[in-house]
Amino acid sequence: MRELAQFGANAAGGMDRFVYTPAWQAARDQVGRWMAEAGLEVRSDAAGNLFGRLAGVSDRTILTGSHLDTVPNGGRLDGALGIIAGLVALDALREGRRPRKSLEVVATCEEEGSRFAANFWGARAIVGVAASDEPDKLMDADGITIRQAMADVGFAADDLPSAKRRDVDAFVELHIEQGPVLEQAHVAVGIVTAITGQYRAQATVDGRPDHAGTTPMASRSDALLAAARMVQAVNQAAFDFGPPAVATVGCVAVTPGAINVVPGQATFTLDVRHPDPAELTRLVNAVRGACELIAPVIWHELMYEPPQPLDQDLDRILGECASGLALRAMRLHSGAGHDAQIFARAFPTAMIFVPSQQGRSHSPLEFTATEDIVPGVRLLAAALQRLAY
Ligand code: HGY
Ligand code: MN
Ligand code: MN
Repeated sequence: MRELAQFGANAAGGMDRFVYTPAWQAARDQVGRWMAEAGLEVRSDAAGNLFGRLAGVSDRTILTGSHLDTVPNGGRLDGALGIIAGLVALDALREGRRPRKSLEVVATCEEEGSRFAANFWGARAIVGVAASDEPDKLMDADGITIRQAMADVGFAADDLPSAKRRDVDAFVELHIEQGPVLEQAHVAVGIVTAITGQYRAQATVDGRPDHAGTTPMASRSDALLAAARMVQAVNQAAFDFGPPAVATVGCVAVTPGAINVVPGQATFTLDVRHPDPAELTRLVNAVRGACELIAPVIWHELMYEPPQPLDQDLDRILGECASGLALRAMRLHSGAGHDAQIFARAFPTAMIFVPSQQGRSHSPLEFTATEDIVPGVRLLAAALQRLAY
């Protein structure tokens, strides 16, 4: 984990590892070396997902792993832990007899959508739902399209359909909880029952750019003032809804963005989540309605991922494996989104959580002590052995 955290580490001690950048490439090369050292066959797909395979008698595949990319100034564990845990589990299992089904660990790309608004990009390529217009439509902050960014590091967007997998019988991901539940309950591992639903959008509020010195306060149309009131209204709507409803405005931008110009236009992002599908719809309507009461808004929807229940049979198997290891496990839903919610559309999928210290994540303070990680890795290895042997 510490070695992998070198790639994309920033001066503040956080991680900036964005898809198709040199830091991402260097981290991916390092993971590829570790996969080879673990005796796995290393292969990349057209999207840049990297796989390490332990061939079994059958070509049917039991897949584990997680994402290699991070949020801006993110932590060392989010995603990376699932890759390393998968490597450790396969390395341990390899010493035994040949598995009946093949085992693979994957380092997926662009789960976070930090560089492109292409949420779960790598996972969607594996499942075969990456839209053909995304490579040219989606751009990073510098206006570079996904197609160009892929080409710059040797991947061809036109080959994306070849990334679709039809040979996967199950996916099991180990991930940090990124919340406080396991730590507060003093439970070693979590078995995830469902992944919350997510709605993401960008809001644009138009005002009138004016001279900051000559424009009377009573005659201004200040776009940022309206947007600021909307940010307050978004938070209030989620508070009024009550847990587990959450709504977040994570990014705000103002144009022209000059100290002496009344803001002409303001944009902000919405991230709205709820584990119940009907409640998510009601919450999104409440949040958007609260904004529209303040001023006209132009909405650009970026994502709508409904809540995703995970596989019941795998849940039972994880529970039996946890008992076999004398591990205290608890069921919980995930407030964070994961590649697993995409994989679950195509094949049986499960997630294992380990505790996050003080529930912190998406921050350099993200931390889980090694002794709190090991039970999760042992449960992952036991589940993979149960599924593949
Ligand atoms: O946003 C999320 O919940 C995840 O970290 N992508
Ligand atoms: Mn994350
Ligand atoms: Mn994650």
